[in-house]
Amino acid sequence: MLSEQIITRLTDIVGAQRLLLEQDDLQRFGIDRTTIWKANPCAVVLPGSVEEVQQLVLLANEFNLAIVPSGGRTGLSGGAVAKDGEIVVAMDRMNQVLDFNPMDRCVTLGAGMITSQLQDFAEEQGLFYPVDFASTGSSQIGGNIATNAGGINVIRYGMTREWVMGLKVVNGAGDILELNRGLVKNNTGYDFRHLFIGSEGTLGLICEATIQLTRPPADSTVLVLGIDNFPAILDVLRTFSTEIDLSAFEFFSQAALDKVTEHRGHAKPFATQTPFYALLEFETATESVMDKAMALFEKCMEEGWVLDGVLSQSLAQAKALWKLREDISETLWHWQPYKNDISVRVSRMPDFLREVDELVASRYPDFELVWYGHIGDGNLHLNILKPEALSNEDFVAKCGNVSGEIGQLLAKYEGSISAEHGVGLLKKDYLHYSRSPLEIELMRSIKKAFDPNSILNPGKLFD
Ligand code: MLT
Ligand code: ZN
Repeated sequence: MLSEQIITRLTDIVGAQRLLLEQDDLQRFGIDRTTIWKANPCAVVLPGSVEEVQQLVLLANEFNLAIVPSGGRTGLSGGAVAKDGEIVVAMDRMNQVLDFNPMDRCVTLGAGMITSQLQDFAEEQGLFYPVDFASTGSSQIGGNIATNAGGINVIRYGMTREWVMGLKVVNGAGDILELNRGLVKNNTGYDFRHLFIGSEGTLGLICEATIQLTRPPADSTVLVLGIDNFPAILDVLRTFSTEIDLSAFEFFSQAALDKVTEHRGHAKPFATQTPFYALLEFETATESVMDKAMALFEKCMEEGWVLDGVLSQSLAQAKALWKLREDISETLWHWQPYKNDISVRVSRMPDFLREVDELVASRYPDFELVWYGHIGDGNLHLNILKPEALSNEDFVAKCGNVSGEIGQLLAKYEGSISAEHGVGLLKKDYLHYSRSPLEIELMRSIKKAFDPNSILNPGKLFD
């Protein structure tokens, strides 16, 4: 419960209409896509300017209040969960385009802008914002930056980090920092911009961002292949990527396809059932690319790696094929999945996946696993579906044990416990499998430098 004095001060900063105290609002703003924790913030505030954000942070320091920064709340690791009476600072109102320069191909915008609005803005300028994933219709740019969001085009365009040319942030001490100011070249010491990217709201609140846009791609073709076994997926990846610039190389298992087709009513790509499916996308600016793709497809069939395939003949068909991959995440919510989002070097994936499969089959035989992910990036999404007979609590506890065991495997394979979803609350106990004690200690020192009283997203990333 907030005191009258703090309520008055918050109202003075954002106005009575922008201070939300009703249970409905607290529940809505206090949670992300995870289902493990219960929302319990003490208030939600909706600032409209960088200066208001700054005043909120100064107030939090004065009264020792914790702040949870909030974007579109589409996160999958609990990074935006407010479960301990924090104040949620939601960036929804700071969603305008503030500046655009066609010469620089850079747009400066409020952190609360929805990702798809940035994509639309880029298109209106004859340009392209290439970071793309299923939740672009509700995720916000600030949240994308705070988690360094990846998605389906990383193999070609990289993660969000690649596109951030500047940031305006309010750090935990309440200082306004302008980081990099849109420069391409700026070798003037530590680049703090990159510290804030992926910092999950623990160093500062991202208020504005300057984003690089690029040339739009030519028309693209989508190829879905039915693949005989996991190592063969990598043979296909190697075969295609040495000859063609791929913009996506995704994979999903038969279990994922079955669930998405049953629950969404999508048509299967072809009649043949195969253990795995790969989805490839590439620009088809010239006929020769298509000829090359067909020749590579035939080679993969001859080698026995690929058992069937379909090539999109229209934009509508390409979109329909993408839905087989993009709708998996949403479909699986039906089974309250426990999400592991892991990465290893692409070359190590077959051995790693085999060891995880063996581990889960021998130690957790009642768990159903659904694999999918961004195979071209070495990023596997391992979803464990909750058996009906198991209570929520027991399921989460057991999955925690699985994560620990997978963490040990990841340490052996020199992989990451979080490829793109972030650490948040969900994975902080496993951080030491990917980062050394010294690194974690240095992270703590960095947090102290930017957020001396630890008011920003405390308990996220590490304790
Ligand atoms: C995806 O690749 O579909 C997203 O990262 C979401 C998910 O893993 O569920
Ligand atoms: Zn993903």
